[in-house]
Amino acid sequence: MKWIIDTDPGIDDASAIITAVNSGALDILGITSVHGNVGLNHTTRNALKLVELMGGDVPVYQGTSRPILQQREHAAEYHGENGFGNTSLPEPGIAPQDQYAVDFIIESTKKQEVSLLTLGPLTNVALAIAKERELEKRIKQIVMMAGTSRARGNTSPLAEFNIFADPEAAAVVFESGIPIIMVPWETCLDTVFGSEVIVRIRRSSTEVGKAFAQAMEYSVGRTKAYLGSEVLLLCDLLAACAAIDPTVITQQLNAKVTVETGGRFSRGLTVIDERMDDGSKPNASIALACDRAKIENMFLDAINAK
Ligand code: BDR
Ligand code: CA
Repeated sequence: MKWIIDTDPGIDDASAIITAVNSGALDILGITSVHGNVGLNHTTRNALKLVELMGGDVPVYQGTSRPILQQREHAAEYHGENGFGNTSLPEPGIAPQDQYAVDFIIESTKKQEVSLLTLGPLTNVALAIAKERELEKRIKQIVMMAGTSRARGNTSPLAEFNIFADPEAAAVVFESGIPIIMVPWETCLDTVFGSEVIVRIRRSSTEVGKAFAQAMEYSVGRTKAYLGSEVLLLCDLLAACAAIDPTVITQQLNAKVTVETGGRFSRGLTVIDERMDDGSKPNASIALACDRAKIENMFLDAINAK
């Protein structure tokens, strides 16, 4: 199966990209960048730096710099102004491809069926669906880190960042009919890494491991302020691991998920209908629990891979 990773790196995006690429388990056609945690120039540069540190053979395509309707929403307070914990990595020696990420997604699906791993706001994917007739029939599935399972928001009281940063795009994707595996915020909160894993990451001696360990310190500091203890919260990593090995999801719920695009307090909420009394069918499988030990091992193997 061919994969495209759509992402806004982002410290946890970095952990997901490293694991997806270095596991060798996914046939990755390319990485598409999108606005999100920080601006598009930073997210694209961070994707390029990561690819270069890992040996450099995954092409990076620059995507969309803003949401469809609203103003940009960033999360630099959790990822640093440069999206990589304010660590000063050298400028990447490789450049993005000329093709626009949205067109790359469309063209890729003309040659074969493609699955998407999405780790940021869904703008690129929504624009591809809007632009290309019947694209939804050529995308096998989307494994995404997005939304909430119990309406516990991290960016507004009810909304998770990847949805809140472009609710209209998320609505297009959830209404497309493409099968979705959704890793929500609450499951990420239940799957944080403890201090023993943090120490093992700090000991990594590979180029990409050392770079990640430096950037991680910013995230550890922020999470301590937010959760009160020294843990590492790598939301996007869960989605990458679920794409590689679906058995990391140990509990799931099939439901009809709709994105609230209006709402005085609830814009960006993922509304989960378990009853489906109106006859609607599930459009998403929501990961309610994940195997933390398996995910830790997958990540440690990936950052230490030569
Ligand atoms: C999501 O928002 C971003 O800040 C992270 O990279 C992750 O994709 C978590 O809500
Ligand atoms: Ca992300």
